[in-house]
Amino acid sequence: MTILVTGSAGFIGSNFVLDWLAGHDESVVSLDKLTYAGNRANLASLDGDARHIFVQGDISDTELIARLLAQYQPRAVLNFAAESHVDRSILGPEDFIQTNVVGTFHLLEAVRAYWSTEGAPRKSEFRFLHVSTDEVYGSLEPDSPAFTENHPYQPNSPYSASKAASDHLVRAYHHTYGLPVLTTNCSNNYGPYHFPEKLIPLVIRNALAGEALPIYGDGQQIRDWLYVKDHCSAIRRVLESGLPGETYNVGGWNEKSNLDVVHHICDTLDQESPRNDGRSYRQQISFVKDRPGHDRRYAIDATRLERELGWKPAETFETGIAKTVRWYLDNQAWVESVASGAYREWLSKQYS
Ligand code: NAD
Ligand code: DAU
Repeated sequence: MTILVTGSAGFIGSNFVLDWLAGHDESVVSLDKLTYAGNRANLASLDGDARHIFVQGDISDTELIARLLAQYQPRAVLNFAAESHVDRSILGPEDFIQTNVVGTFHLLEAVRAYWSTEGAPRKSEFRFLHVSTDEVYGSLEPDSPAFTENHPYQPNSPYSASKAASDHLVRAYHHTYGLPVLTTNCSNNYGPYHFPEKLIPLVIRNALAGEALPIYGDGQQIRDWLYVKDHCSAIRRVLESGLPGETYNVGGWNEKSNLDVVHHICDTLDQESPRNDGRSYRQQISFVKDRPGHDRRYAIDATRLERELGWKPAETFETGIAKTVRWYLDNQAWVESVASGAYREWLSKQYS
């Protein structure tokens, strides 16, 4: 048995593949374009492991996907591949449309062609699992209930609009062709291998480098944080027992304002790796221009996943952040290896 995982060299995809192979003998065919966000080194610990086959390629390349499907005959395809950073989607939306919308379409077409030739029982047991986001639901008012799976789609950024479009395509391939799809809509992740353009790894990196910790606007925007390994365990659970055609919200029940998140990271670093001058990393906080169209609040109601599939996160925000800070302190070489010239160019374009 084999699964095919796209976007496997990115943040969540690489955590998923590493965790999968730590717990299963079922092999993984990994497909990743290796954009700036994809890092082959994230999977280096699997080099020489016969259960892992890495292929550099694009989800839009239907010929390549068809070849991989025919060769490896996976029983499931999990689609993590995407352009994922909201700020980059604001500065340049085109790649987001290309990968998240057109790429998902091409992937679905290749998968549909493969699946439709399968015989029973493989055809009914096959799964296409699409990894999506809570951002498709838009922004919540302070007192509104958290997003359930029935919340209307109201995406506000080019990123979330492109993810919403991909979710609709996935849904349509189930409704029209009967492809056995599953969609997960998850809140903000954090943890090992998180590219330091996103809030939590950026703050850890900048703090240790003695640089400013940029907070957009008033810092009172709320996100619902989930440790990445809990997201991976939710995806495994949905793959195993989710009902085809259904969507499952995944979240950590950890709503925090951005300022509270940054304060918590600073306080953790103050304990784990104090500044030479004895002052708090909080000194480095700097309020900067807000993100255009910035969503004020996200919150996920993950009741369905708990009630129907028995999934709950293992980490609290405090335990997850402690593990994450420790990982970044122990893996500063990884941070430096991804903080290339292109990364520095991005920082100066975004924050100057
Ligand atoms: P990421 O940007 O770290 O990784 C994306 C990976 O996809 C990279 O390895 C990149 O090289 C690869 N990729 C990009 N375009 C590709 C293409 N055309 N073909 C093949 N590979 C391609 O993103 P992430 O944070 O790991 O997110 C993974 C998925 O989870 C995305 O679909 C994202 O929308 C979703 N998601 C992310 C979060 C989060 O907090 N990070 C939360 C909910 C959902
Ligand atoms: O909600 C799920 C989404 O979470 C995923 O779909 C996205 O792929 C993922 O990138 C993430 O999106 P956000 O925009 O919420 O994450 P980001 O880390 O970019 O920002 C988190 C919050 O912190 C957001 O309110 C913007 C703010 N922020 C971010 C950066 C990079 C700052 O205040 N300063 C910053 O420098």
